[in-house]
Amino acid sequence: MRKIRINGGKELTGTIHIGGAKNSAVALVPASLLSDGIVTIDNIPNISDIEALQEILEFLGAKVTIENGQMIIDHTNLENKEIPESKSTKLRASYYFMSALLGKYKHVEMYFPGGCSIGARPIDQTLKGFRTLGATVEEYDNKFIISASELIGGHVYLDMPSVGATINTMLVAVKAKGETIIDNAAKEPEIVNVATFLNNMGAKITGAGTSEIRIVGVEHLDSCFAEVIPDRIEAGTYLIAGALMGNNLKIDNIIPEHIESLTSKMIEMGLDLKIGVDNIVISKSDDLKPVNIKTLGYPGFATDLQQPVTTLLAVCDGVSTLEETIYENRFKNVPYLNDMGANIEIDGRKIYITGVKELIGKEVAATDLRAGACMVLAGLKAKGTTVISDVEHILRGYENIIDKLTAVGAEIELIEE
Ligand code: EPU
Repeated sequence: MRKIRINGGKELTGTIHIGGAKNSAVALVPASLLSDGIVTIDNIPNISDIEALQEILEFLGAKVTIENGQMIIDHTNLENKEIPESKSTKLRASYYFMSALLGKYKHVEMYFPGGCSIGARPIDQTLKGFRTLGATVEEYDNKFIISASELIGGHVYLDMPSVGATINTMLVAVKAKGETIIDNAAKEPEIVNVATFLNNMGAKITGAGTSEIRIVGVEHLDSCFAEVIPDRIEAGTYLIAGALMGNNLKIDNIIPEHIESLTSKMIEMGLDLKIGVDNIVISKSDDLKPVNIKTLGYPGFATDLQQPVTTLLAVCDGVSTLEETIYENRFKNVPYLNDMGANIEIDGRKIYITGVKELIGKEVAATDLRAGACMVLAGLKAKGTTVISDVEHILRGYENIIDKLTAVGAEIELIEE
């Protein structure tokens, strides 16, 4: 079994270069199949979720090459086949194939997607989008058969601003007849990235990044070039590492505005951040004030940074609170942090964190991707050695994490035990 071992307490200095956003790239890759030409996607992150999507594309007959972070996809020989359950359950983003294949072929047979176990993750809003545009959905246990004789634009009101449902509805609507309106759409930067990508192919999408997106269907989508935006969650995670152990640690190649909900809390805590055009320089502080945080859709505080930031709040001076409003089971990191010396109480969707002076290295587990990031951060801060198991979760979403942290002074390695 692969594990991550960290000898904590090392100062972090130098530059960490942030890669392409996982949650954009995992949508762009399936979305590419809507094009009848060749699609080039730059700044593809080197993570196992991308490998899983590449496998699915190749299974469907696409020719995929990746060189120097650039993915080139040729769909000339694509076939609309049923994606095996073992491939769709590897990750949440497999359901972008559902909408892309439905949009292209008006028929798709697929299984329920996988993803981190952080709460119930229904896809009812995605299915509502499909049905509104004229598709019929048959459900058999875990399998969906979705068909439409014709896809016709419609008015989709999302019950909640779901990232997945917004992207899935866009992917079905781009080739549907007439106009689709998505109301109460998610506003995350990843949605703007996907809309720009589709528009580069010839789609007609306006309003991405606001709560009302309008899509006028087109018949044909062409070759295009697109770039994945910087990963705001990876950036936020390393910024927290800097707040814990940094000495002028530079987090480079980022869009600072995308992580303002985190940086504004850091400033409130008393951290000194030097915010540049595409980078932030941060140093640690041992005198941090407690804060209250509530997760919300963008531009609110990102749920994906909730577990990482818990490590920082765990060593603040005083009591902080953290409320998780998006997922009902995203505190699986807490017992492990407490085992390392933190003082955190869970009360339903809220945690109360009483700051402690130090954390102690322990054997812990990465129960999901961002819980794993929380454990890595705790390991960097802790006295002694931390060993993290179930690291596959971490490698799904953080590219070259060992190399990136080693390069700035961390003692961290991937071990086989
Ligand atoms: N929801 C429904 N019905 C739906 C869709 C969503 O009830 O049809 C609920 C979910 O149960 C959840 C909330 O709405 O409580 C948010 O779900 P959303 O659809 O926005 O999330 P997602 O698209 O499944 C993406 C990211 C997540 C990130 C969320 C929120 C991908 C592949 N995943 O998930 O990323 O937490 O948006 O920003 O883009 C991660 O990277 O660690 C991660 C979990």
